Amino acid sequence: MPDLAETLSDITARMLAEPERGHVADYIPELAKVSPQHFGITVITADGQEQSAGDAHVPFSIQSVSKVFALVEALQSHGEAVWARVGREPSGSAFNSIVQLEAEGGRPRNPFINAGAIAVTDLIAAGHEPREGIGAILRLVRRLTGDPSITVDGAVAYSEAATGFRNAGLANFMKSFGIIAGPVGNTLDVYFHQCAIAMTTRQLARAGRFLMNAGVCPDSGNAIVTPERSRRIAALMLTCGHYDASGDFAFKVGLPAKSGVGGGILAIAPGQASIAVWSPGLSPQGNSLLGTQALEDLSRAMGWNVF
Ligand code: DON
Repeated sequence: MPDLAETLSDITARMLAEPERGHVADYIPELAKVSPQHFGITVITADGQEQSAGDAHVPFSIQSVSKVFALVEALQSHGEAVWARVGREPSGSAFNSIVQLEAEGGRPRNPFINAGAIAVTDLIAAGHEPREGIGAILRLVRRLTGDPSITVDGAVAYSEAATGFRNAGLANFMKSFGIIAGPVGNTLDVYFHQCAIAMTTRQLARAGRFLMNAGVCPDSGNAIVTPERSRRIAALMLTCGHYDASGDFAFKVGLPAKSGVGGGILAIAPGQASIAVWSPGLSPQGNSLLGTQALEDLSRAMGWNVF
């Protein structure tokens, strides 16, 4: 197997020199301020080796990667009842699309599109103050990383709340079908704050370790989820983690992964590695352009591919 540190530094040098970097998300004004020049990557292997390259210590907005942590939290608190609210099929539509909801009883296709994530967050939020809902998700992320300093970027949360008309539309539409239980405003408040959690690739790779490790957090030896749930979450990441580019991502990279419009991707090589990459420029489908390229290069170099 090639040397991991060398592989990461080669990939990083290539990505830093790449002229075509994609477009930084600008529909959330605060994200439009981030430079597309950043590139960072961290890999943590099952035997505990940790290697980073580039901007691995620079915090970024995890955005939709938070949907994985919200799903874990909802599964822990509500068990299989989660699946009454949200399906397990790829949508083949844009991450913020509303089109399937009307014909499908308001039940979103999967927990990783915006509508599905809002429905999952509602399970965590309903019946509580918004601060308790976001507190539950932050506590989980801090436990997974062992890092109590991880927090929400208030400016990003505010920026999205001020402009999140599409998400408000999705949430109100689902509420009309009875898919959202709590007050729409509270559920959206928790959703916007979870998306605005700021993490470095180092922290994000640590947070993903339980998924490479059959659900067990390597620090404590505690099961975060059962091995079956860990496999199932990974299956959803593979089939739905990149929206209408999920098929192409599986074709190119062959690993379960979840992207966010902040430019972060968390990818899992089951039994082998937890990988976090960050490059803010996005593809037209809203996934990190160079992050995807880097993961394709890394999975090929290391022979990490679930197929
Ligand atoms: O709800 C939104 O639009 C954002 N907070 C998250 C979307 C996202 O990250 C899509 N990802 N690639």
